Amino acid sequence: MYLGIDLGTSGVKAMLIDADQRIVGSASGALDVSRPHPGWSEQDPADWIAAAEEALDALRAAHPAELATVRGIGLSGQMHGATLLDDNDRVLRPCILWNDTRSHREAAALDADPRFRAITGNIVFPGFTAPKLVWVKNNEPEIFAKVGRVLLPKDYLRLWLTGEHMSEMSDSAGTSWLDTGGRKWSPELLAATGLEERQMPSLVEGTDSAGTLRAELAARWGLGAGVVVAGGAGDNAASACGMGTVRDGAAFVSLGTSGVLFAANGRYLPNPESAVHAFCHALPNTWHQMGVILSATDALNWHARVTGVSAAELTAELGETLKRPSGVTFLPYLSGERTPHNDATIRGAFAGLGHESDRAALTQAVLEGVSFAIRDSLEALRLAGTELTRVTAIGGGSRSRYWLKSIATALSLPVDVPADGDFGAAFGAARLGLIAATGSDPVAICTPPSTAETVEPDAALSSAYETAYERYRRLYPAIRDAMV
Ligand code: XUL
Repeated sequence: MYLGIDLGTSGVKAMLIDADQRIVGSASGALDVSRPHPGWSEQDPADWIAAAEEALDALRAAHPAELATVRGIGLSGQMHGATLLDDNDRVLRPCILWNDTRSHREAAALDADPRFRAITGNIVFPGFTAPKLVWVKNNEPEIFAKVGRVLLPKDYLRLWLTGEHMSEMSDSAGTSWLDTGGRKWSPELLAATGLEERQMPSLVEGTDSAGTLRAELAARWGLGAGVVVAGGAGDNAASACGMGTVRDGAAFVSLGTSGVLFAANGRYLPNPESAVHAFCHALPNTWHQMGVILSATDALNWHARVTGVSAAELTAELGETLKRPSGVTFLPYLSGERTPHNDATIRGAFAGLGHESDRAALTQAVLEGVSFAIRDSLEALRLAGTELTRVTAIGGGSRSRYWLKSIATALSLPVDVPADGDFGAAFGAARLGLIAATGSDPVAICTPPSTAETVEPDAALSSAYETAYERYRRLYPAIRDAMV
């Protein structure tokens, strides 16, 4: 048996799989986010341990015999968070999370130093780890002076599980301190934020062993001695391992709260100018690119709140036959945008409204707007040297057939819908635990799920979609310039 533990923002999920990668069981422990000031988002690392204990206790209660045979554990986690420890591994302050924007000024200042984009291959986004440390240095200097170690969230769970200070490449690529092409810390970038390499964890690949489970914890859950804990991955790379998105050119589009277009790359292909994320993958010698849009199903949920009609009813109202864009354009920038604009202050818009624009026309525009935002990410990946031939759709939004057709037509790509199952980050993490414990070939383990069906672009509407996309593209600079 192998165990995957995913430390998400809203909870910890533990999943048990067998040697044939069949899911045996899973359990969760819930987490809250504390928002002490507008734009702040924090969690107490002690709560992560409590939630992991809750999940593992529940897993033990349901599957004691299976849990006892676990040989490998893989970790996955929310990325970018700054967990600050003193020299005795005591937590110095609540962890500042990935969606905390307090350090946007520090991020802009670091991003203006050309070494950051050159070495990390990424914009220094406000959510990334390095600007958070600069914020702490400027605002809580007494805490900054005591920082003995900076760990990413899942690596703090690893410290608890194994006693080791270790990380791996995929999550570390989201700190703004990693030489992403060279897969090593950059002492130069650490120094630019007042830190040294000794304050960072050691690095392994996600498929490597990064310690063994402490005897005390093994005894608590009835596990044997010498259980390997794999490097693991940041949650997006872990999901990609779960989805089998590991071979060069394989891609998925995730329609969750936020939207992600993720492509696996055999080479390091950065393009910070289009706000593409270029990170190391969890597999050795593999990288990935990611376009991130901040409001995907969040945009539809906003529309549902405003109209007082559920998202499911709104999409049902459109039927299943794709419609010609009506002339109403929606920009989904409800909380700013990462790819391709890197603009935290832009906000959304409806344009082209007429007396005939009813609720369904607005729903249609919202779905098209998100599809066009993902098309923007596709173009950004294209500029960074990646040509996709198909994508697999996952996430809550992929339950709408209309949306899938709209995305296929906006991207001019076939969209595969996987057969039912849970191929998320906890599953990907369990696969990494299996690989680290057995030495199996990662590519042979991280295979894609079977495809239930493929949604093809609607050829009859492709030129109308192209015209609507051009209109969508022209609207952002116009709105940005009009709103200042
Ligand atoms: C990735 C990112 C999010 C977090 C959420 O850059 O910010 O996907 O990893 O868990």
